[in-house]
Amino acid sequence: MVDAIKYMKNNDFLLVNAAFNRPVERTPVWVMRQAGRYLPEYRKVRKEAGNFLNLCFNPELAAMVSLQPLDLIGVDAVIMFSDILTPLMGIGMDLDFTPAPIFSNPVRTESDIRSLKAFDPDAAVPYVGKVLKLLKKEVGDRAPVIGFSGAPFTLAAYMVGGGSKQLHQIKGLLWEKTDQANLLLDKLTTLVIDYLNYQIENGADCVQVFDTWAGILSPTDYEHFVMPYMQRIFDNLKGKDVVPKIYYIKGGNSLTPYLGKLGADVISLDWSHDLKEVRETLGDQIALQGNLDPDTLFCSQKTIRERVKLNLDRLSDQRGHIFNLGHGIDKSTSPDALRCMVNAVKEFSQRK
Ligand code: CP3
Repeated sequence: MVDAIKYMKNNDFLLVNAAFNRPVERTPVWVMRQAGRYLPEYRKVRKEAGNFLNLCFNPELAAMVSLQPLDLIGVDAVIMFSDILTPLMGIGMDLDFTPAPIFSNPVRTESDIRSLKAFDPDAAVPYVGKVLKLLKKEVGDRAPVIGFSGAPFTLAAYMVGGGSKQLHQIKGLLWEKTDQANLLLDKLTTLVIDYLNYQIENGADCVQVFDTWAGILSPTDYEHFVMPYMQRIFDNLKGKDVVPKIYYIKGGNSLTPYLGKLGADVISLDWSHDLKEVRETLGDQIALQGNLDPDTLFCSQKTIRERVKLNLDRLSDQRGHIFNLGHGIDKSTSPDALRCMVNAVKEFSQRK
């Protein structure tokens, strides 16, 4: 069903065509955290909502901030406004943002893992379904709407560590209590599959899985604790060959050969990877997303344009490339700098 309805219109989106390595008239561009604090218009709506979580839970306001980068900056995709950690509230995690995320009940024992509730999207994240429906109505054919989830390993790192500062604690669980680690990763894999399929059913034209912290793992740990779970996720998502699947990892340069085996259509990388070398390793069946250093946006417009050109030129035929930053946009970036980047991508990648 999803496939039949979506197929015709999804073919028109630059981002979808680039993700499936089809010819495009130019390289599509969007940025991670594009709906965020660098925009005065976002800060105003966030103030109105009271705090970050209230903004996530309010579909009208969340849709409003999701649309701001499309209207104000001219990006080629809308990412729904939410956070990778909010669905975990639906399985019993007690989450707050200060703005860094904190869990007051980190996962520490086997019984903590066993007592996590089953994830029911209609009960746990009804606001996500509503935001997606609102966005599809508002955006129409102007741009694809991107849904997302955290990856099991990255979610587990937050759940075990309890917050951004203790993400390495997960390694003790992996090495000393391997069965418990696998039980947690297995439960989270089921959650991610159900969550992303719920988003696809509610209108997401593309989905991205954020595995921001998997880059802290050795190749052997990645092979055991990430790869099988990610393969199960990409294998079980709806909309095969219609709704592109993007996998994002920060760092993890020694992991490149594994990234081609996950089943993702697009691999999204940070600036520590060279796109040309990654393409040589992964082949041209997998599209690449990235990977401009977000610090570029603190330079002059001349430098921004030069760095955009250099980045685009790493992939000589410019196919199978979605331009993005290598990580989320910094909150003190000027919107004009981002606009300059987006315009430069459009100008330099336009096919004559
Ligand atoms: O990209 C978008 O515009 C969509 C919304 C989005 C947010 N977070 C909004 C947000 C997305 C896709 C995310 C993903 C996310 N959240 C990741 C993966 C990508 C990455 O950045 O590595 C991670 C690890 C998180 C967890 C998270 N949420 C952290 C570490 C923080 C604190 C950030 C900080 O700067 O201190 C958040 C909060 C958050 N998520 C904000 C936004 C706009 C800032 C909160 C605010 O407005 O007060």
